[in-house]
Amino acid sequence: MFNGKNILITGGTGSFGQTYVRRILERWTPNKVIVFSRDELKQFEMAQNYDAPEMRYFLGDVRDGARLREAMTGVDFVIHAAALKQVPAAEYNPFEAIKTNIHGAQNVVRAALDADVDRVIALSTDKAANPVNLYGATKLCSDKLFVAANNMVGARRTRFAAVRYGNVVNSRGSVVPYFRKLIAAGAEALPITHPDMTRFMITLDQGVDFVLKNFERMQGGEIFVPKIPSMKMTDLAHALAPDLPHDIVGIRPGEKLHEVMCPSDDSHLTLEFDDHYVIEPTISVGFAVDFSVNRLGERGVRVPLGFEYNSGSNDRWLSRDAFLEMVG
Ligand SMILES: NC(=O)c1ccc[n+]([C@@H]2O[C@H](COP(=O)([O-])OP(=O)(O)OC[C@H]3O[C@@H](n4cnc5c(N)ncnc54)[C@H](OP(=O)(O)O)[C@@H]3O)[C@@H](O)[C@H]2O)c1
Repeated sequence: MFNGKNILITGGTGSFGQTYVRRILERWTPNKVIVFSRDELKQFEMAQNYDAPEMRYFLGDVRDGARLREAMTGVDFVIHAAALKQVPAAEYNPFEAIKTNIHGAQNVVRAALDADVDRVIALSTDKAANPVNLYGATKLCSDKLFVAANNMVGARRTRFAAVRYGNVVNSRGSVVPYFRKLIAAGAEALPITHPDMTRFMITLDQGVDFVLKNFERMQGGEIFVPKIPSMKMTDLAHALAPDLPHDIVGIRPGEKLHEVMCPSDDSHLTLEFDDHYVIEPTISVGFAVDFSVNRLGERGVRVPLGFEYNSGSNDRWLSRDAFLEMVG
């Protein structure tokens, strides 16, 4: 599907972006892969590893609509991964989080429409479902912008969808590298916010493959949610350091005990497929879509009213061994 195509990824130097570029180059022969991000050093370092002739490195900020429009000229597929994603940083710097995560999303939508891009997928997060922190709230706004963008397409071919998933193990700033750093520094205990806390877990490769598949599935307007396992934070800490005790430090501001990916309030809009869920738009998009059959012919069924996809009541759990294999 990506052979001979031009692909742009905002936030292409990030954890997701680099894995995405690797996967695309392993499996397809695109015409151009454009990495769009701000920091020239990260791009320089990435270019040492990814210097294939189809690679392009564009400096730019998603807050700058004109630069995005330039970058998207002739582009077929866009993946929007750029974001400010640290919960405490967003709480402390709300204007900045809103500028990047909301205004940036709006600029991506406008630029994609202007450039007649074929398909756009924006990355969302479980924190956008029933958000309790500003990061999650900005990502919910972003989801809404991408879903509603399908109403603005008119005669254009452009279609927009979002992909929502949970904790990416080993990604920058996440709990696994944090615990490993503490263990390496000789910590006598690992901090656990609450003994019952659970999280959804996904690897970068799984996240990237799910996004790539959804470019084939999408009709426009969907929020795609993969079925992935949960893990208790205490089990995660035990797996990394079986002998270390846990220091219960209390739930931090903006944190939940369990994460949600499909809220019960959206259950009347949620369809279950074999390996994923689809949340339909709350408003009808500007063209007729039967979301129960996707472009690959896969069929989904409605979930029962009140159904919630929650990391605490998930029916898939990550074993210690499976987790250790995941983190390498
Ligand atoms: N990691 C997770 O656990 C997780 C879970 C669920 C969803 N997600 C979502 O997945 C996406 C990617 O996450 P990630 O883990 O790859 O994040 P990351 O490693 O922090 O990468 C973020 C990328 O965005 C770029 N960026 C930040 N602000 C920008 C701006 N204003 N304009 C252009 N580029 C900008 C950064 O490069 P520069 O700083 O050089 O601009 C970097 O390339 C995000 O949308 C995040 O919300 C992540």
